[in-house]
Amino acid sequence: MTFVRFLKADGALDCEVTTAIGSNLLDLAQAQGQPLEGACEGQMACSTCHVIIAPEDFQKLPRATEDEDDLLDLAVGVTRTSRLSCQILVPAEGLTVRMPPSSLDWRRG
Ligand code: FES
Repeated sequence: MTFVRFLKADGALDCEVTTAIGSNLLDLAQAQGQPLEGACEGQMACSTCHVIIAPEDFQKLPRATEDEDDLLDLAVGVTRTSRLSCQILVPAEGLTVRMPPSSLDWRRG
């Protein structure tokens, strides 16, 4: 088992959950009620699952594919450690993940 720490868009801690190594990050986030729409359900056809990985954790993850990078270009509030959560499997060392500012807008609807 490992853990994921979810931070709000402002960087405050939202929750920390224990999960199996290799869990899909989007599925886990949605199960925790995080504001990620995930409109294409992991088909890499949207960018509504965009999250910001803590800089110290970013290197633990395999590099994004070119397709993922292209989609990230369309996401709002992208940073150098942005990723699409549907493409992330939680590594054994755990992860800290922040919601992007745009997720607040989505939640307000
Ligand atoms: Fe659409 Fe991740 S859910 S790209």
